[in-house]
Amino acid sequence: MEFSTSSNLSFFFLLLCVSIILLLSEGQQSYVNNKQLDCYNNYSVTDGFLCNGPQRCNSYLAFRSTPLYDSPAIIAYLLGSEASAIAQINNISDVNKIPTDTQILVPVNCSCSATFYQHNTSYTLKDASETYFTVANNTFQGLTTCQALMHQNPYDSRNLSVDSQLLVPLRCACPSRNQTANGVRFLLTDLVDWGDSISSIAQTFGVDEQSIYDANGLSWNSLIYPFTPLLVPLKTEPTKIPTTQSPAPSISPPVEPSIVPESNKSSKKWVFIAVGIGAALILLALSGFLIWFFRLRSQRGKPLPPQGKRLPESVNYTAAASENYSGSVSSQGLRNVVESLTLYKFEELQKATGFFSEAHRIKGSVYHGAIKGDTAAIKRMRGDVSNEITILKQISHSHVIRLSGFCVHEGNTYLVYEFAENGSLSECLHEKSYRNSSCLGWKQRIQIAYDVADGLNYLHNYTNPPYIHKDLKSTNILLDRNFRAKIANFGLARTVENQDEGGLQLTRHVVGTQGYMAPEYLENGVVTPKLDVFTFGVVILELLSGREAASGDEKKGELLLSASIEQVLEGENVREKLRGFIDPSLRHEYPLDLAFSMAQLAKNCVAHDLNSRPTMAEVFMSLSKILSSSLDWDPSDELEHSRSLGHGR
Ligand SMILES: *[C@@H]1O[C@H](CO)[C@@H](O)[C@H](O)[C@H]1NC(C)=O
Ligand SMILES: *[C@@H]1O[C@H](CO)[C@@H](O)[C@H](O)[C@H]1NC(C)=O
Ligand SMILES: *[C@@H]1O[C@H](CO)[C@@H](O)[C@H](O)[C@H]1NC(C)=O
Ligand SMILES: *[C@@H]1O[C@H](CO)[C@@H](O)[C@H](O)[C@H]1NC(C)=O
Ligand SMILES: *[C@@H]1O[C@H](CO)[C@@H](O)[C@H](O)[C@H]1NC(C)=O
Ligand SMILES: *[C@@H]1O[C@H](CO)[C@@H](O)[C@H](O)[C@H]1NC(C)=O
Ligand SMILES: *[C@@H]1O[C@H](CO)[C@@H](O)[C@H](O)[C@H]1NC(C)=O
Repeated sequence: MEFSTSSNLSFFFLLLCVSIILLLSEGQQSYVNNKQLDCYNNYSVTDGFLCNGPQRCNSYLAFRSTPLYDSPAIIAYLLGSEASAIAQINNISDVNKIPTDTQILVPVNCSCSATFYQHNTSYTLKDASETYFTVANNTFQGLTTCQALMHQNPYDSRNLSVDSQLLVPLRCACPSRNQTANGVRFLLTDLVDWGDSISSIAQTFGVDEQSIYDANGLSWNSLIYPFTPLLVPLKTEPTKIPTTQSPAPSISPPVEPSIVPESNKSSKKWVFIAVGIGAALILLALSGFLIWFFRLRSQRGKPLPPQGKRLPESVNYTAAASENYSGSVSSQGLRNVVESLTLYKFEELQKATGFFSEAHRIKGSVYHGAIKGDTAAIKRMRGDVSNEITILKQISHSHVIRLSGFCVHEGNTYLVYEFAENGSLSECLHEKSYRNSSCLGWKQRIQIAYDVADGLNYLHNYTNPPYIHKDLKSTNILLDRNFRAKIANFGLARTVENQDEGGLQLTRHVVGTQGYMAPEYLENGVVTPKLDVFTFGVVILELLSGREAASGDEKKGELLLSASIEQVLEGENVREKLRGFIDPSLRHEYPLDLAFSMAQLAKNCVAHDLNSRPTMAEVFMSLSKILSSSLDWDPSDELEHSRSLGHGR
């Protein structure tokens, strides 16, 4: 290890000089000054920008698109931001491919954790040659440092393995009091590239040069280095960064920092990129040392692979979560899902689906295909699908369909889901071809209702933020091999806001399916979690009656299932009317008392006044009682019972 000691010594000397320069200038934050290359030493500047202002704020990162990270959806996934926000600020569509090397603005929430500002995201190692350094410098382009990664992750730097999940603290900062007093509202973390100078960066963002010097504690004779973050103070929200051809790294003659620039440029101060021979030599020696060190570590003798080629190789397609009743909420499960979304290559999906052939088509633009031995459902979607990705990547529940990954190709997004062998509930209940072969029995139906209630209860009460599905219907409930239900299609889902007011929101854009829409939504665009309670009531009625939510009839007009239950449960002869209502294909093989409880529950769910509807938590409680009674129920008893009734008449 003498090698590393001597290297450390020379580095220490360099740092000493740099620190002296730094101390001379008084700044808001300190520039990393290339210390991010020296992974095995601690410097306070490499851990993050110091908390010297508010606890949290909105901030921005600048990221360069690469062949792998080339759409708002994928960049949002990498950096823990929101695709729609990225698309909007950069004036591009959510799913379109961004030309390589375009600077993209990424809005993130920045917060103070202990002493440093950071924005947390996570990253799963995909290749054995990845190191803390390559993740920080190559994948995250310098938005984090190897030191910060090492300090916040439990893995030893020599002990990283494929599939290790890293917490990635991205460098961001909030304006200090002094900056706020000067009108600064946001700080943007920009990445220095070859050929940049403070003046070119100031020009790009339309800010005053001096404010950049001040914000980073730089003075006119400081050097700035490529692949390091620099704070740019902004007085207004930034807009799309104009595309500029970044010049190729040019070997310009060494520039003496002490030479004051020509006087016709008068007081203009300059900071030069470190391409001077001296600096280049140090860089070379350093990267040589690093490469040597990493080779030693990985014992593979492979040079660091170029960024664009490290496509994900492992497909994390684990078996569906275990099917226990109450244990379906787990924070560990959540982590796994968040971090296991895979970016698929389009070729992989083509191969899996036989080039999207008819034989692999399930319905519409949904295909099935084998990916690494597991069957998956692959759905092609146009337009903005970030809503579905953003929601599903945060959710892990055995009764919510699992998104395993996605792929963006030529304006289409391909979402890869777990495969539900038995298709949709709607097909099972309403399609003739299905009904004859496998009619759902009573216990299966109650189990399905219970599963869906479990999933909705989770969405309403256990996710952060809570969600409203908004588009529940029997076509969006999928059944797996064992006829256990999974809620699918989150395209219209949205977060619950105004939780104090019962999650009330208004929309002018009412979309939904006839027969499932709650009256207050249809009439006034009112969106609350009770919307899902209503549609769930309709689903129970479908399960009980086998009828469709809305049946069209030319003469009598539309017949809504939700409107029919009141009649059944009111007045005389409720038992007879209920028997008449229940799906004839159940052939009286059901416990009438429990069917009555189900019908009563459904009726409460579809109450016209949303305040009289139960909450999803209450519905789930009721259903768990009905389910346990149903599981105890022995069909032969009922058969006897109904026979004796029949004989009696
Ligand atoms: C760096 O700091 C960490 C704790 O923050 C400590 O465990 C580690 O030994 C330090 N490394 C060096 C080289 O000083
Ligand atoms: C956004 O892009 C469209 C074309 O894609 C262009 O017409 C429009 O002017 C742009 N808006 C801004 C604010 O740059
Ligand atoms: C920042 O946080 C707020 C509330 O916590 C959230 O609404 C917003 O979407 C977040 N912004 C980003 C870019 O993640
Ligand atoms: C980010 O991660 C750190 C742990 O390294 C934690 O202390 C902090 O609370 C996290 N911040 C947020 C906003 O989750
Ligand atoms: C750091 O990453 C950039 C690309 O972002 C790459 O060009 C450069 O060679 C990397 N530096 C080292 C020392 O690997
Ligand atoms: C490396 O990881 C393995 C398991 O992942 C663990 O057993 C071992 O103790 C680790 N070694 C070091 C030096 O951290
Ligand atoms: C506050 O900002 C002004 C102008 O930007 C600067 O001259 C002054 O030194 C700053 N004060 C502190 C305490 O940083």
